[in-house]
Amino acid sequence: MRKLFVLGAAAMMTLPSVLSADTAPRDVAFADDGSVAESLTGVAGDPTAGLENATSRGIGNCVACHVAEGWKDAAFPGNVGPALTGIANVYDESQLRGILVNSKKTFEGTVMPSFYNLDDIIRPGDAYTGKAATSPDVTILTAQQIEDLIALLLTFDEPLPE
Ligand code: HEC
Repeated sequence: MRKLFVLGAAAMMTLPSVLSADTAPRDVAFADDGSVAESLTGVAGDPTAGLENATSRGIGNCVACHVAEGWKDAAFPGNVGPALTGIANVYDESQLRGILVNSKKTFEGTVMPSFYNLDDIIRPGDAYTGKAATSPDVTILTAQQIEDLIALLLTFDEPLPE
C-alpha cells in the first residue's frame, strides 16, 4: 500500500505542465513589438540545459539555422537565420522570449518556428493527408525549455561580429 502511494507520487511529478503554474501557450501576453515580459514558468532558466537544447537536433535544433560563438563546436550549423553571437547586446530578455514563443509576432512570415505556440506551426501530417492535422495541444518546446534558452542567449554578450 505504502509502495503504491510512493509510485503514485512519482508518477504525478513526471506529469507535464498541466499541474504546474506554467503560462498556457494561448495565455501568453505579447506587447505590441512581439516581446513577452513575464517569465513563462517563474523559475529561472538554466543556460546549460539551454545549450543542450539549442544544439540537439531532436529538440530545439537552433543549430540547424543559426551559428553562434556559444556553440562553435557544434557540427554543421546552418545559416538560414542570422548568427546569434553577441545577441544579448541586441535584444533584452522579454524580446528574446517573444521571438522564441512566437517568432511571427516579431518577424512577420519568418521561417523560424514558433516554439511555444499552438496555432502558428505547421504540423506533421498536413502534407501527408492534405488536410489540417488534428492538433494535439502540444508545443514544440516546453515553457521551461524556452526559459532555459533565454538564459543561454543572455550569456551571448560577446562583442558583435563585424
Ligand atoms: C528553420 C530555421 C530556424 C530555426 C530552427 C531557428 N531559427 Fe531563429 N531565426 C531564423 C530566421 C530566418 C531568423 C531571422 C528572422 C527573419 O526571418 O527575419 C531568426 C531569428 C532569430 C533571432 C533574432 C536574431 C536577430 O539577429 O535578429 C533569435 C534570437 C533566434 N532566431 C533564436 C533562435 C533559437 C534560440 C532557436 C532554437 C530554439 C532558433 N532561433 C531556431 C530561423 C530559425
